[in-house]
Amino acid sequence: MTRKLRIGALASGGGSNIQSIIDHIESGKLHAEIVILLSDNPEAGVLQRADRHGIPHRVIRPDDFKEKDDHDLAMVLALKETGVDLVVLAGYMRVISPVFIADFPGRIMNIHPALLPSFPGLHVQQKAADHGVRFSGCTVHFVDEGTDTGPIIIQAVVPVLPGDTGETLGARILKQEHRIYPEAIRLFSENRLKIQGRHVRILGHTQDTDQSLINPSLPG
Ligand code: GAR
Repeated sequence: MTRKLRIGALASGGGSNIQSIIDHIESGKLHAEIVILLSDNPEAGVLQRADRHGIPHRVIRPDDFKEKDDHDLAMVLALKETGVDLVVLAGYMRVISPVFIADFPGRIMNIHPALLPSFPGLHVQQKAADHGVRFSGCTVHFVDEGTDTGPIIIQAVVPVLPGDTGETLGARILKQEHRIYPEAIRLFSENRLKIQGRHVRILGHTQDTDQSLINPSLPG
């Protein structure tokens, strides 16, 4: 049996994605361990989830540092001390700096609640609903120095329905986030993700080439 993937997780909020990763680990679907959870927010609900599951956690507050880079370097130090293989950003609401990325090349993942490269940034479920797109979804990608620009690993698509708000669309997207993030981590843990420029090649994956979604659906 190969050794468990050591995950360092960063989260700022409620942590439902972290919960999904924990559930996949605890049910044996993911051969991994969250060895440390770091948050920038002492009020984050994710900290209670970590407590409930015996996951070591620390709050590192940006306000305690003069420079943004210093805060990021404190995060990096905590991750390195714990010997993490993969850094997982799950609702971590700060852009990480190049000094952070340099320490974990090709080893930082993020989940974003839109179909990148459409709707990068914040409040994107609302922006997608307002724009009138027929589909939105979520994206897991490797992190590079841009905001939500790194090589894409996996995406899930959901329909946007008449009358959707940011909240209703966001809830539909979040369900899919909980499915695709553990899957991206599983592929990484099996050493099956190869970054080639902008592309991520997935070893041993066969594509269903007739897959399609149409919204509104065609008659018949
Ligand atoms: C998720 O929808 C995630 O995609 C989003 O924050 C939410 C966190 O939910 N992340 C971003 O918008 C990053 N820019 P959670 O705390 O319940 O996992």
